[in-house]
Amino acid sequence: MTDLNPNDNYTTAATRPGDTDPHPDKPVGEYLTDVVSNDWVNDEYKLLILHVPDKALTAYAGQFFHLLCPSPDGAEVWMRRPMSVYKVDKPNAQLEFLYKCEGRGTQGMAMLDTGDTFNVSGPLGIGFKLDPAWKKIVVLGRGVGLATLAPLSQLAAEHGVGVTAILSARRKDLVMSEDLFQALGADTITVIDEDDSSAVENVEAILNGLIDAGKADAFFTCGSSRLLNLMQRLGKERDVPGQVAMEQIMVCGFGACYVCMRTFEVNGEKILRRVCREGPVFNMQEAVGW
Ligand code: FES
Repeated sequence: MTDLNPNDNYTTAATRPGDTDPHPDKPVGEYLTDVVSNDWVNDEYKLLILHVPDKALTAYAGQFFHLLCPSPDGAEVWMRRPMSVYKVDKPNAQLEFLYKCEGRGTQGMAMLDTGDTFNVSGPLGIGFKLDPAWKKIVVLGRGVGLATLAPLSQLAAEHGVGVTAILSARRKDLVMSEDLFQALGADTITVIDEDDSSAVENVEAILNGLIDAGKADAFFTCGSSRLLNLMQRLGKERDVPGQVAMEQIMVCGFGACYVCMRTFEVNGEKILRRVCREGPVFNMQEAVGW
């Protein structure tokens, strides 16, 4: 008789690094990955590095994995947590996730230790795309949105595209990803709340300066409705196309449950789209802020 224990099914369905891929034709898989490290980068965020099977390394900027987080307190964790990829390290067969420890899922993740096994599925969703006509792009992110935008620097470097990254945070010590952007040749500008440099008027002046200097063929953003609104308005006024990575609560992560629906405005008409399946990256001008 078939064993219907879902935990047993997980164990037999998921592959470990080095296993034979049971479904080589399918782009998405479920993996039992090995935790390489899980360290604090400041007092709010941790960086998780996983050793993963080769197929997981096909993830690109803006895509996400659905993570089966351990319970932080012994009670059930009912759903997987979606999390965008921070870095794909192909030579070392590693994936990195930068996350803020706030909900039960991420608090459980924070307990993972070197050598632990962590179940992830992906890569999921549609990520960022670079138009070959774009030679210089501007990336504007805030808080944990910076983790989603960081792999754009990798994608841009691979395509010979110049990047200016505007990194916004509450405090200087919470500005993340600056090293990653700079290591891949991006110019970085930091704006923070403490000295009011993150105010919309100041960021707008920076963006206008970049457009005037020919450094803004396209805009990219994540992590702030206020900054999305700003980029949408400037993009319309100055004819700069753009993309936004949306954050949303998810259940299935692959298009089946419709929990992640958001409203978009396309040609003056309001429509609904699934963030997990049609996104999470969308045309900036079609997104409706939250
Ligand atoms: Fe189920 Fe998007 S999370 S459809």
